Amino acid sequence: MEAGQRPDNRSSSNGEPTPSNIVLDYLPMITKVVVGILHSIYAFINLAFLSIYPVEKSLKDKVVLVTGAGRGLGREMSYLLAKEGAKVVCVDINAEGVKETADVINGGRTGMDAGADFYTTNVAEPSQVNELAKAVEEKWGKVDVLINNAGIVASAPLMDTTDEQIKRMIDVNLVSHFWMVRAFLPAMRKRNEGHIVATSSVAAFTCAANIVPYAATKYGVTGLMASLREELRANPSNNIKTTTIHPFFLDSAPINVKHWDVKSTLPIVSIPQVARAAIQGIKREDVVVTVPEILRLIMQILWIVPQKSADYWRDAFSSKINSA
Ligand SMILES: NC(=O)c1ccc[n+]([C@@H]2O[C@H](COP(=O)([O-])OP(=O)(O)OC[C@H]3O[C@@H](n4cnc5c(N)ncnc54)[C@H](O)[C@@H]3O)[C@@H](O)[C@H]2O)c1
Repeated sequence: MEAGQRPDNRSSSNGEPTPSNIVLDYLPMITKVVVGILHSIYAFINLAFLSIYPVEKSLKDKVVLVTGAGRGLGREMSYLLAKEGAKVVCVDINAEGVKETADVINGGRTGMDAGADFYTTNVAEPSQVNELAKAVEEKWGKVDVLINNAGIVASAPLMDTTDEQIKRMIDVNLVSHFWMVRAFLPAMRKRNEGHIVATSSVAAFTCAANIVPYAATKYGVTGLMASLREELRANPSNNIKTTTIHPFFLDSAPINVKHWDVKSTLPIVSIPQVARAAIQGIKREDVVVTVPEILRLIMQILWIVPQKSADYWRDAFSSKINSA
């Protein structure tokens, strides 16, 4: 040791760190882990309590915009939202379908004296999305809940899928979410209030043959929503929520698939079942909703087990879509 240099009291006389000093070095991390474990225990207890006594926000008089509202899941969610007393703004590329959905709601056929509006918009087209946002905000003042649900699928092996189909799926299922969020988020930010919802799919947690581009878009949406949530959380007083819905295969064919033939050992789900779970998830401000719920656990297990075992379970409980 040179003159004037202080002894390193973190090391023993032979220069090696002592066990107590290692503990001291790692104390901040150890503290974080212990607090994290306690926090997780608290969160599990809280979750159990909330599943018995759920806290649900009211959607009455809220302005809720649903894309893909012209049929299928979007239409069913629109009906349920009307039943909740929401003002439903139905959006779809299909002019006839979206008008029909709004007509049913305005005709009181959902059992509520609710109001619905409708817009014919291609959500994959940014200029149309910006016009939509302007028109809706002018007429309704704000959007409380934005549900990005429109989606398309083509079922074919990757090499039989056309370039146009791949581009279209990416545009409608993924890129449109960017246009919609960027068009509606600024107003939500100003009010520091709002809820952004995306319909993803169980395909976003796993894999399936014959829907390679589709699954890729759903992974994309899931990443978009998770990262958007992180950006929102950066504001400690953030009050804008996100919910991502992951349904298993529905019992009805999407609009552009001629022969929807899902072979699945697990029971496929019905549109009303998914719509109910989605609206419940929104009211409870759940970040992730899987339908059925058990799928979330199954997908986590598939992540943990070795690949060979994951393949075994996937084959044993396979879900296959035809390539028509
Ligand atoms: N059907 C399933 O098995 C299944 C499973 C998991 C997730 N999903 C997802 O659920 C959502 C709804 O699916 P669905 O089964 O009700 O489909 P669907 O085909 O019955 O309805 C989709 C609606 O979106 C509209 N749409 C399509 N392109 C559009 C665009 N560019 N702009 C605006 N609207 C557009 C269509 O006109 C249609 O009304 C989709 O995002 C889909 O990927 C479906």
